[in-house]
Amino acid sequence: MGSLSLGVMNMGTAKLKTIRELDMKGKRVLVRVDFNVPLDDQGKVADDSRLVATLPTIRYLLEQGAGVILMSHLGRPKGKVNDKLRLTDVARRLGELLGVPVKKVDDCVGPAATAAAEQLQPGEVLLLENLRFHPEEEANDREFARQLASLGEVYVDDAFGTAHRAHASTVGVAEFLPSAAGFLMEKEVAMLGRILTNPAHPFTAVLGGAKIADKIGVLEKLAEKVDQLLLGGGMANTFLRAEGNPLGDSLVDDSHLEFARDFIQRARSRGVIVELPVDLVVAPASRSGKQPETRVVAPGDVPAGWQALDIGPQTTERFKQAIAASKTVFWNGPLGLVEEPAFARGSEAVARAIARPGLISVVGGGDSLALLEKVGVSGQVTHASTGGGASLEFLEGRELPGVAVLMK
Ligand code: 3PG
Repeated sequence: MGSLSLGVMNMGTAKLKTIRELDMKGKRVLVRVDFNVPLDDQGKVADDSRLVATLPTIRYLLEQGAGVILMSHLGRPKGKVNDKLRLTDVARRLGELLGVPVKKVDDCVGPAATAAAEQLQPGEVLLLENLRFHPEEEANDREFARQLASLGEVYVDDAFGTAHRAHASTVGVAEFLPSAAGFLMEKEVAMLGRILTNPAHPFTAVLGGAKIADKIGVLEKLAEKVDQLLLGGGMANTFLRAEGNPLGDSLVDDSHLEFARDFIQRARSRGVIVELPVDLVVAPASRSGKQPETRVVAPGDVPAGWQALDIGPQTTERFKQAIAASKTVFWNGPLGLVEEPAFARGSEAVARAIARPGLISVVGGGDSLALLEKVGVSGQVTHASTGGGASLEFLEGRELPGVAVLMK
């Protein structure tokens, strides 16, 4: 992949600086990664895909003879030390994946971090403690950024998942060191940029998730780009209600009914095919147990006291056919309440359909990625984005501060 042309984000022909352009030999390289991963009850890494995604950058730097100093946040400790959000198990798991030990220091600035960085030899890896134990990280405090920068000689940003945050480690540090994007950052920007600037048509977007409010920006932008929009999940309920379906006790965002009505009308008048569910899997709102009573009904027939919790079989078939006829598909957000197996079938079928060889498939958002994993097709999509919020903001056409500072 060469340097990237970014027609999106109002950056004209601006280019992303990449790690191939900087001399890394014998340098201490400070690398911002997004190791904000789920932990299990024992505090162990429950999903290491964000770690795996940064291995090419770390390996490349080690091969170049650099000493690699990694920094990340984990969770939202709000500027205070929280022992449950230490990166200790992340260092352990990363060491297993890399096949070299990963040193860990219990702070990200101060004497311990400075000493650990100074002792680091070429070919070694050090992980700093959770950046968000310091309130200065999220405040993008200049002095804090300078302290972080003092640990390395070059700055590489591979944290696409955090690129929508203007924090000290994603923006501030770049003022003090020669900076470049890592391979993951480069790939994310290239793949997401491609579906905005040059998608192969027919281009279909499948959008789900609980809340319509989170998706307004991306709906608006994608409606300018796609041939077809397939809507499911809690979000689709608001569209269905806007079209006059009562929907029983389903989750509906009444404050966005007007938007939903207006959006569908505008998208359709632009020639976009907007598909809403034609049938729904419903269950009583007051259900209990793992196998609740379910029914498949038309959107107009959801009984009072019942909720729409998945797309029905007819809708699933229509969505599968639409995907089969597409050359590019973007998917974000589950199409049902996938935490409960009874309501995961629609999303699972869509995940399988998207993993078709030859299709350019880009998937973003933790829940959608987990579904790919669950049905065993995560390696079969063109690009599984590590960014949830970041990928949506990118696709809205917004400038991501963590990407903007890496432009030449
Ligand atoms: C994410 O998981 O979306 C990123 O790591 C950013 O996390 P944040 O929403 O807490 O800033």
